[in-house]
Amino acid sequence: MTSTDLDRLIPRAGTGSVKWEYREGAVGHGSTLVPAEDPDVIPMWVADMDFPCPPVVTEAIRRRAEHPIFGYSVGLASLREAFCDWSAARHGFRPDPDWVVPTEGIVPDLGLLVRTFLEPGQGVILHPPVYFPFFGAVRNNGAQMRLCPLRREDGPGVDGRNPYRLDLERFERLAREPDTRMTFLCTPQNPVGRVWTPGELTAFARIAARHGLIVVADEIHGDLMLDGRRFTPWLSLEHPPGLRSVVASAPSKTFNLAGLKSSCLLIPDEEMRNAFRHARDRTGVYGVNPLSAAAAEAAWRGGGPWLDRVLAYLSENARTLRRFFAERPELKVGTVPVEGTYLAWLDFRRTGIEAGALEDFLLDRARLRLENGAIFGEEGRGFARMNLACPRPLLEEALGRLEAALRG
Ligand SMILES: Cc1ncc(COP(=O)(O)O)c(C=O)c1O
Repeated sequence: MTSTDLDRLIPRAGTGSVKWEYREGAVGHGSTLVPAEDPDVIPMWVADMDFPCPPVVTEAIRRRAEHPIFGYSVGLASLREAFCDWSAARHGFRPDPDWVVPTEGIVPDLGLLVRTFLEPGQGVILHPPVYFPFFGAVRNNGAQMRLCPLRREDGPGVDGRNPYRLDLERFERLAREPDTRMTFLCTPQNPVGRVWTPGELTAFARIAARHGLIVVADEIHGDLMLDGRRFTPWLSLEHPPGLRSVVASAPSKTFNLAGLKSSCLLIPDEEMRNAFRHARDRTGVYGVNPLSAAAAEAAWRGGGPWLDRVLAYLSENARTLRRFFAERPELKVGTVPVEGTYLAWLDFRRTGIEAGALEDFLLDRARLRLENGAIFGEEGRGFARMNLACPRPLLEEALGRLEAALRG
């Protein structure tokens, strides 16, 4: 696959694609979807890619499909090994395969983790702006949200760096409250694109350990490092003794397999792992989809060269977007460097468009469907999240539409 291949838009009509065939009536996760009625709108909201997945994946599905029996499956030991080998080769850290619990989606896992390890009414610290289903995973499972918004270090000294920081002081204050039990960390952070440094992660871990919090580190975007950055897996750090952690990972963002519903949790503590497994059994969810397992294993085993090309292309898309607004300061749209993920965080607060009217402006005037920043938390009002994992000609068309709308 060359960058010319990535430049080509593959129509997704008729595939049931959430991004292309639906629009959301309200913040939710599935139940509020209504069909998109306007095919002219460019959809850049849902976080999947408009690129074909690695050919090794389609080949593995084809090969598995040639065995005509699709009975109950728990996945092979080689699936867990493949994940651990991938992590070792990519990030220099090999988890123990015994820690790996294959699952079918991180969002349902988060809710189940809350139900498994918290008493009703206990607190989970979240760090918005953040992936909005984190809120539901806490609220819909009997726990209380404790909000610890990221700080923005704008102004002198930022020098083109991503300005978002964890608020470690507030984190410690909230962690100290007696009924706070858990925190979710999005690493790297969707939607602001920050890749947390080893120093930031270590400071976070110390606070969590001091106050007995369980850290749930969502690393679903961990492989999506732009411009050659390095990712620090949460479990690769020297953690204080007694710190309890769960890491969520998946091949879905990395290799564009989200519809296959394949993910895994890493739970190093055996007692916690067994508690989660029993809780999962009680939901009636059992095993894994054999086609998805074949796809995941093939991606982790052979998807590296494909990912390298996609990351180079995404890095260039991110630069294209930054350059576009840097060259047009009069549009007053702020951007931050995307360090990780393929999601751009656009700041419209200086454009004069009222936060409450931004989504309609983008849809009606620019003919773009972006994710409304406000769904990621109050701090996201006046922002929008743009998915950059699309052919560059489509991105350029979208930027042109946005410029025309802002000038109009
Ligand atoms: C941080 C984060 N976690 C989880 C998910 C979704 O995970 P899954 O599809 O496995 O439920 C996403 C998707 O955008 C995400 O950004």
